[in-house]
Amino acid sequence: MNNLPDAGKKSAAQEAARLVEDGMTLGIGTGSTARHFIDELTKKIAAGFSLYGVPTSDETEALANAAGVEIIVPDDDTIIDLAVDGADEVDPRLNLIKGGGGALLREKIVANAAKKFVVIADASKRVASLGAFPLPIEIEAFARALTLRDIRETIDSLGFRPHRSALRERNGELFKSDGGNLIVDYAMGAIADPAPLEARLREIPGVIECGLFCGMTDIVIFGDGEETSIQTA
Ligand code: 5RP
Repeated sequence: MNNLPDAGKKSAAQEAARLVEDGMTLGIGTGSTARHFIDELTKKIAAGFSLYGVPTSDETEALANAAGVEIIVPDDDTIIDLAVDGADEVDPRLNLIKGGGGALLREKIVANAAKKFVVIADASKRVASLGAFPLPIEIEAFARALTLRDIRETIDSLGFRPHRSALRERNGELFKSDGGNLIVDYAMGAIADPAPLEARLREIPGVIECGLFCGMTDIVIFGDGEETSIQTA
């Protein structure tokens, strides 16, 4: 078994943990790389840090809570000092595809609100252009066939061909996000210019959010085995 991707995830998470200061409110991502980051938070708390967290999924909330992070429900005064999350793909301009774990909506809300958004990823997530990983799009279940048709026509009109999609399933049933929505995964090939696609998809009634994160990332920390490299926006 090749353990390199996991070693890279861990080293990226360890590097990100160096940005964490006592008393910070953190946005805490979802997925296997984010889990390594939560492990690092456990160590910080054992060393005496007080940390507050806005988790991006129910799973992360349970893990962060067990780590000793004080979970907060954001209010009007909440400032998220630092959000740290994984990604499925990162392009040279630090645009991302996220949502492989189905938490893209909460992840985008938290990343958008954070003063600093740091992505941690093993080096295999670095791509020349986004799109080899099917794009997750979170949709409202009501009248989903109409929303799916609208998405298909939009993607077609932007010149992506061929493209194919599948509603995400888990254990033989439709996958539901923590918010109770469906996710359609869209394979459409290379996405050379992701920002217009993100904007067009978000205009469709029935689309709740898409997994393109354009122009949001401040820093990406790539882990390659025990080595890390940092790319800033
Ligand atoms: C969850 C995500 C994850 O950050 C993404 O899928 C990467 O996951 P992993 O760290 O397990 O490779 O967007 O919705």
